[in-house]
Amino acid sequence: MTTICLLGGDGIGPEVVEQAARVLGALPLQLEFTRHPVGFACYQEHGTPLPDATLEAARAADAVLFGAVTTPPDVPNYRSPILQLRRKLDLYANVRPCRSFPHASSRPGIDLVIVRENSEGLYAGREREEDGGETVISERVVTRGASLRIAAHAASLAKRRGDQHVTVVHKANVIRKGDGLFRRAAREAIEAAGLGVKELLVDACAMQLLRDPTSLGTIVTTNMFGDILSDEACMLVGGLGLACSGNLGDERALFEPVHGSAPDIAGQGKANPLATILSAAFLLEHLGHADHAATVRDAVARVLELDRTPADLGGSLSTVEVTDAVLAELDRPLG
Ligand code: NAI
Ligand code: MG
Repeated sequence: MTTICLLGGDGIGPEVVEQAARVLGALPLQLEFTRHPVGFACYQEHGTPLPDATLEAARAADAVLFGAVTTPPDVPNYRSPILQLRRKLDLYANVRPCRSFPHASSRPGIDLVIVRENSEGLYAGREREEDGGETVISERVVTRGASLRIAAHAASLAKRRGDQHVTVVHKANVIRKGDGLFRRAAREAIEAAGLGVKELLVDACAMQLLRDPTSLGTIVTTNMFGDILSDEACMLVGGLGLACSGNLGDERALFEPVHGSAPDIAGQGKANPLATILSAAFLLEHLGHADHAATVRDAVARVLELDRTPADLGGSLSTVEVTDAVLAELDRPLG
């Protein structure tokens, strides 16, 4: 029996996670689901956005499927539970695949993946005020250990994809020490894995993504660069409604759509569930069910091809109707 911990969260999070659970539940697999509270509504009810029981359940499960959480800007000392989960479960690699879909919203010929360092960089939370609050210093942490680890992860993913090299994205010409260290360590780990290394400065990479994304394959980069580039990249292939991600560590894994809790459409049945369904496919692949992952991805592709889409992709189907369309395609043999 495989246990999947479902953390719906806030806003559209629970809506899309329940639809992905329907898809997982329709596969001939022995899956057991557990559901736990997380996020801002949980904080309002229980005084914490990440109760111990939720953390323990996430730890104990074979994998976590996470929806989205609302982060209130004005609650002092509030820490987003997704950041806490990434840290506490040591999910150091944030992997965001970007593949073309057979749909007008997607550019053709793209198959790239951004591997983002998830544990340090500018998101280490090391900020201090000086000068009576007139100056803020935000420290950007780069360690050799984390850089080697993320680049080794990217290299092994590149091998599985059949890529001959990994592109290291940095800004070592300006951030000389920090990105100098990242660049050297990344090169070392990729070469040790027997792959070639390419390099791109982050600004050049942002341009290349728009100019010729088909030329890019496996990319490895630091936390904030990866955050920004992966949001840019997902807009090439259908946008937030289709963008999935995995947060991977050596022991545990959490999968989530890239989008947030979308309070503007929450509770209206309009949310696109496909990003979460594709995140569930990524989860299946991670658990060794590559065949079932492919089945789900193919079903999503056919639903897009048939233009059975929700509002964000120009259609008029509800969250549940889009999922129904995916479920209908699951049973259809490949033509
Ligand atoms: P967002 O991703 O929630 O929404 C941006 C826009 O995209 C909105 O117009 C929304 O309606 C639309 N959208 C997002 N997902 C969609 C879907 N599945 N189907 C259809 N339309 C969709 O980002 P926003 O508005 O910046 O943030 C809202 C809240 O989400 C904030 O509290 C933010 O902190 C949080 N957030 C949480 C994340 C997470 O849990 N990992 C990631 C990003 C934001
Ligand atoms: Mg982002």
